[in-house]
Amino acid sequence: MKSKRVLTDKIAQHNKQMWERLAKAGMNYTRPFGRPPKTRAGMRRFMDPRQRLKGVRLDGARVLGLAAGGGWDPVIFAKLGGDVTVFDISPTQLKTVKDLAARQRVKVRLVRGNMKDLSVFKDESFDVVWHCHSLVFVDDAARVLKEVGRVLARGGTYVLSTMHPTTLRLYGSYRDGGWSPKITYFEDKPVPYTDEWGMTWTLGNKQLVAPTIEFGHRFETIINGMAAAGMVVDGLWEFSPGDPESDTELGSDAHLDTLFPAFIEVRARKLS
Ligand SMILES: C[S@@+](CC[C@H](N)C(=O)[O-])C[C@H]1O[C@@H](n2cnc3c(N)ncnc32)[C@H](O)[C@@H]1O
Repeated sequence: MKSKRVLTDKIAQHNKQMWERLAKAGMNYTRPFGRPPKTRAGMRRFMDPRQRLKGVRLDGARVLGLAAGGGWDPVIFAKLGGDVTVFDISPTQLKTVKDLAARQRVKVRLVRGNMKDLSVFKDESFDVVWHCHSLVFVDDAARVLKEVGRVLARGGTYVLSTMHPTTLRLYGSYRDGGWSPKITYFEDKPVPYTDEWGMTWTLGNKQLVAPTIEFGHRFETIINGMAAAGMVVDGLWEFSPGDPESDTELGSDAHLDTLFPAFIEVRARKLS
């Protein structure tokens, strides 16, 4: 496993410790949950249920799973014939992928580091950059996007999913019959916690306090960051997982997710 130089980024250091804690406890996003089907089409659906990579050739593609430790995705890309590199700040998250790849008899390259600095990779060295649910953990989204634009080959595809910037500002803020944002939309600082224990992660009956520092990067930061990095956006989607009709406790985060999107997905292509 390659290791990037010592980190001096306090936010990254803190979030690395939190992800180590989460990974050691086996919380969400740190275990390869479920079992992918055996067919190529089934594997693609399992990994990419909303088909953001529809039409993109994966056999032989150079794929970067950015902050993609802990789950199936890098291993599925490899099973689909990709030449896969997984980059993550957490050694435990990377080890989970390494062990899964060995069990599944595929090869993935593991690189440890902070996504704000991808200098370990050459310019234009990937055809696909797959980046799920981790941009919230860095303060400077534009810098990450600039790095993505640099390492992406011309004509290559970048798929980003992250927290919806409005909804993230509203979680846990329901009082007296309504939600109120914890910070304004225009503030780029970390979104504060509202519970006195710090942020508690839940999986079934398991609970773990792991107050990751999270930023709700605004649409203009993301879209303009992509443009500045030489990419064009060709799709933007807002969604919540689960059933919008389901019964939820009034004012809970799950209730909020039925009213506002939990996540955004943005797809961009590097200009040729
Ligand atoms: C929510 S998990 C996503 C895991 C995987 N991509 C998935 O979708 O299941 C967030 C990941 O981001 C990683 N991470 C957090 N901050 C990072 C940083 N600054 N640089 C690289 N990886 C980071 C964590 O270690 C963790 O593996």
